[in-house]
Amino acid sequence: MSSQPALQAPADPSRLPMTLPLLMEKKRLGEPIVMVTAYDYPSARAAEAASVDLVLVGDSAATTVLGYSATTPVELDDMLVLARAVRRGLSTPLLIGDLPFGSYEISDEQAIATAMRMVKEAGCDAVKLEGGGESSVRRARAIVGAGIPVMGHVGLTPQTATALGGWKAQGRTAAAAARIAAEASALQQAGCFAIVFEAIPAAVSEQLMPSLEIPVIGIGAGPATDGQVLVFHDLLGIRDGLGARFVKRYANLQQEMNDGVSAEPAGPACWVSGRSRGRSIKRADGLPALNGVG
Ligand code: KIV
Repeated sequence: MSSQPALQAPADPSRLPMTLPLLMEKKRLGEPIVMVTAYDYPSARAAEAASVDLVLVGDSAATTVLGYSATTPVELDDMLVLARAVRRGLSTPLLIGDLPFGSYEISDEQAIATAMRMVKEAGCDAVKLEGGGESSVRRARAIVGAGIPVMGHVGLTPQTATALGGWKAQGRTAAAAARIAAEASALQQAGCFAIVFEAIPAAVSEQLMPSLEIPVIGIGAGPATDGQVLVFHDLLGIRDGLGARFVKRYANLQQEMNDGVSAEPAGPACWVSGRSRGRSIKRADGLPALNGVG
């Protein structure tokens, strides 16, 4: 039996599936590249309906849907379950699977094996890994060498936030900005097809952009990048609290969910007891009596 999931019909049948050459073409034409995270079938359908270019099954799933307080605990097997569900909801965006912490750092062999599982078992088109240091660059080169496209990720890399001094903007001194420039360039040299810039001062991104030939997707990195990525749950307000300052929130779905489940004004007891807004649910005529019920 094939493990390759079935693809959905695109929301807009005239829309071509995103490919790496098309992505490069968008950069060349200066057309903004739109990327969003997704973690399940409904969020994938929303991304498809919005005709985004790239969908990332981010390891942010650890905090957005699995309830952890950091991204480090999420396992490869968790990511595969989520990525398969997203695959079933997508047809045109390029699907990128994030390699979770601990699934690629040990050796090139481990990195290639993990990336292959993302492709073979979840139907991902590409993978993303964090960091632009020597070993991340080596892993990126190895995965690209195995025929799997890789997206890099520099600046604030949540998997190693503790080592970076905490959850804060990176590249704020000349030396730190130069390090990010060197990392981005090394990832490009290693064959990455695109790079995420996370939490980098806008002025630093702007300075680095001319030196990069591959698309750069920003999150909290100012307007100069080729595109932006937003976390689905931040975008729609499916969270407690406001989140990062740069996040644009277009809805407050957590509140909507709370209100919906509370079934105002009577509270959830009304649906638990089978009564809705003061009216009891009528038993259908002609239904045979069930043993011991009714
Ligand atoms: O996991 C994630 O959601 C990410 C994006 C913020 C780029 O890595």
